[in-house]
Amino acid sequence: MINWAKKQGGRKANVLFGLWAVLLTAPWVWASGFSLNDQCPPSFALDSNNQCQLRNLYQFYDSLQDQGLGGLKTALPDHRDDFSPQQIDLGRLLFFDPVLSGDKDLSCANCHNPAQGFSDGMARSVGASGQVHSRSAPTLWNSAFLKSLLWDARANSLEQQALGPLFSEIEMANTPKQLLTNLNQVEAYPALFAQAFPSSEDALVIANITTALAAFQSSLISLNSPYDRYAHGDRKALNPEQLEGLNVFRSFVARCSQCHTPPLFTNQQVAVIGTPEPEGMARDIGAQATFGAERLRGGFKVPTLRNIALTAPYMHSGRFATLRGAAEFYTKGRGHAVPEGEELLLHWHISEPNLTATELDRLVDFMGALSDESFMPKIPEQVPSGLLN
Ligand code: HEC
Ligand code: HEC
Repeated sequence: MINWAKKQGGRKANVLFGLWAVLLTAPWVWASGFSLNDQCPPSFALDSNNQCQLRNLYQFYDSLQDQGLGGLKTALPDHRDDFSPQQIDLGRLLFFDPVLSGDKDLSCANCHNPAQGFSDGMARSVGASGQVHSRSAPTLWNSAFLKSLLWDARANSLEQQALGPLFSEIEMANTPKQLLTNLNQVEAYPALFAQAFPSSEDALVIANITTALAAFQSSLISLNSPYDRYAHGDRKALNPEQLEGLNVFRSFVARCSQCHTPPLFTNQQVAVIGTPEPEGMARDIGAQATFGAERLRGGFKVPTLRNIALTAPYMHSGRFATLRGAAEFYTKGRGHAVPEGEELLLHWHISEPNLTATELDRLVDFMGALSDESFMPKIPEQVPSGLLN
């Protein structure tokens, strides 16, 4: 089954053998018209263990030997790439399939929409029951590199994170038992799981659902923006405005790159910067809850700025509608948005940069040079449940 597509290119006898193998071993997959890709997504190479390995120019750089932390030629942090093509492809189908939610009407892609930078264009997401989430949906581009997930850094892996939306009342509102029942009732899924997890005796289990979702999300690589081409030596890749913006961004006056460190444009740390909450809403204590540390009250994980021009509105609760508004926040004075009487231990890199209107415009130009969707995955025309809306 796994090699069928490859065998198509080979001798006719092989094609016939492959076809029989499909019919004999996985009749449901064949009958349902769904089969899994045996090739890795772009920017990954298939190794001899049938695993997709990331291939990227940044892997040639060494932060210590080259320009130091945050320079143009900084190496990438560790990442997840030990998944098979079949697992990635199954994850893709699951990601878009509303059958994963309790009411079978909400998929991961509803809130992480590829057309909106894998976010949802809303300040705060709306879940299955119409309940409004307290936070905004982050992009999923480059999540393969993240050591901790969610605004408050409370998940340590993509697998652990996926359990959140699946079983949360305000997101997909499913239960483990119901989820397995729903998937087992879809003709294609049991065989697709068996194909993606050939060594599992019972392949359709929660752990394999979260592995497949993690596999797909880890394949969303965005490292080919105009900024990246500039970093790799194409001096014309950034226009003069963007270049000026890069220089403001990495200046010790603006200090953006101290936290939004290249090449991911996040140093993956939690920082308290004192962004305002939506009108009338209490302070989201953020990472204080995760680490039980008072000093992290109102602290959030530094978000990546990759594809940031596509994911408005901004900050954990979508408080700023535009990138200009988000950039302006930093120059309005340290702690200006913290209500009187409230104590927040602001990060030392939150200062008083006094950026001019032009410098703010250039920062916006530069952030626009971080867009790259060249490895956009194929969006399924239909999912195995037939429920794609
Ligand atoms: C109702 C909308 C909604 C749905 C459905 C949803 N998410 Fe999310 N997602 C969010 C919000 C909101 C956050 C931020 C929550 C937080 O930080 O507390 C988030 C955060 C994440 C993150 C963390 C990203 C980061 O950079 O930290 C990942 C990964 C993720 N979601 C994956 C998924 C997957 C996989 C599914 C499907 C199983 C899914 N989401 C379904 C709204 C949604
Ligand atoms: C001290 C670390 C730090 C510095 C310095 C910093 N940021 Fe941030 N940035 C953060 C954190 C943390 C958040 C998330 C805060 C929140 O959601 O409340 C954030 C959020 C953002 C966002 C919104 C991202 C999103 O996905 O919604 C943008 C845009 C941004 N920063 C741009 C900048 C620019 C431009 C500068 C320089 C003027 C800068 N940052 C300096 C830590 C920092």
